[in-house]
Amino acid sequence: MNAASPILSLPEAACTPVGSEVYRGLTARPKTLCPWLFYDQAGSELFEAITDLPEYYLTRTERSIFSERGDEIIAAASDGAPLTMIELGAGTATKTGLLLRAAIRMQGVVDYYPIDVSESALAAAEQHIQAGISGVRVESRVGDYTQGVAPIDCVGRRLVLYIGSSIGNFEPSDAVGVLREVRRILAPGDRLLLGADRAKDASVLIPAYDDAAGVTAAFNKNVLTRINRELGANFNPMSFRHRARWNEDQSRIEMHLESLVAQTVSIPALELEVRFARGETIHTENSYKFTPESIASIVERAGFAMTRCWSDPQQWFGVYLATAV
Ligand code: AVJ
Repeated sequence: MNAASPILSLPEAACTPVGSEVYRGLTARPKTLCPWLFYDQAGSELFEAITDLPEYYLTRTERSIFSERGDEIIAAASDGAPLTMIELGAGTATKTGLLLRAAIRMQGVVDYYPIDVSESALAAAEQHIQAGISGVRVESRVGDYTQGVAPIDCVGRRLVLYIGSSIGNFEPSDAVGVLREVRRILAPGDRLLLGADRAKDASVLIPAYDDAAGVTAAFNKNVLTRINRELGANFNPMSFRHRARWNEDQSRIEMHLESLVAQTVSIPALELEVRFARGETIHTENSYKFTPESIASIVERAGFAMTRCWSDPQQWFGVYLATAV
């Protein structure tokens, strides 16, 4: 009609990553929010606290596999060639030290490229690695690996670490997409080491995502506090309840925030009013749980061949070595 009139007049905040994700998720049906929104300063600290909880077996189980089988894993990855290690979503890289030490025992020195969106986490990682392990050349890269990874030159073989079951936050088809992006920077014969939680009994899974001390509940609700702070919203976290449920058909733990009352929340920065019915939920996270077969299918669709896998005695967690084809 009128060519001069603006087609869209979205508030500026709706164009930021947080604003656009909150707008999308809270106007969707059912309401959803992406798990990356958890990780502001407070959320990252709450996640670190989760990894120490008695119920949250993932971190300690993966660490036990690295500490008992680290040399074997690194030897299998190298197969005689010098390794350059690249880590996706490295965070503070606390478990990686076990693998870096194994690489140093084998080859004396190692080049290590941690990639993460958080500059402060990378700084912490770099600092504690430099202080605690000699022989590591660290070159941090700030960035979102889901958007692709810049090429990394090396002599010998690349070993990409993608540990901690971070892959479990993606829908399986998106997980294939993420690994295909990784595969693009690799040569045939380069390796991928993937840590992925295994499907198991709900009596073990549920407490891991709904702990007695309420740390996971606080982690889940922190997303509301973040939206209050960054977008001026007036969520009352006490009017929501943390829910963790095992979706057996999809083999995933789901986290939700359930509104305890009928309520309307305003988000001024988005010029948005969000209505909740009593009992309505925001779906905040999927954490997929895998079998060796379901992981093999994902890595194979991304251009890798499954090479070897390791697990703990209870078979609660899986560590998978794949080779770029
Ligand atoms: C960081 C995605 C592996 O799914 O277990 C922990 C995040 N959520 N407790 C997971 C999380 C609730 C975690 N990952």
